[in-house]
Amino acid sequence: MTRPTFFWMSRPIPFSDGESIAAALTAAGIVSLGRDPVGQSARYFCGIGACQACTVRVAGVPREACLTRAEAGARVEPLHPAPLHLVQGEPGDAA
Ligand code: FES
Repeated sequence: MTRPTFFWMSRPIPFSDGESIAAALTAAGIVSLGRDPVGQSARYFCGIGACQACTVRVAGVPREACLTRAEAGARVEPLHPAPLHLVQGEPGDAA
């Protein structure tokens, strides 16, 4: 059975029912979620909505990726875009 997908910068990301956007991106090997307002790498960090380090745009609206359930067809982008290699992560990039 084919898993549903959402789109991270146009890349289809599969997810399981009830999975958060952050969990699905991490499972797909994407650990850098762009840049925060001060230029630091945005990441999945606390996982409980406390740090806002994972904030992304879902259909243009800022959302915490760790608290937002993935939905089929959703368009997800960095809050503040970073160079593509940083957003997609590189082999060996730590989570
Ligand atoms: S990882 Fe801290 S708010 Fe999402």
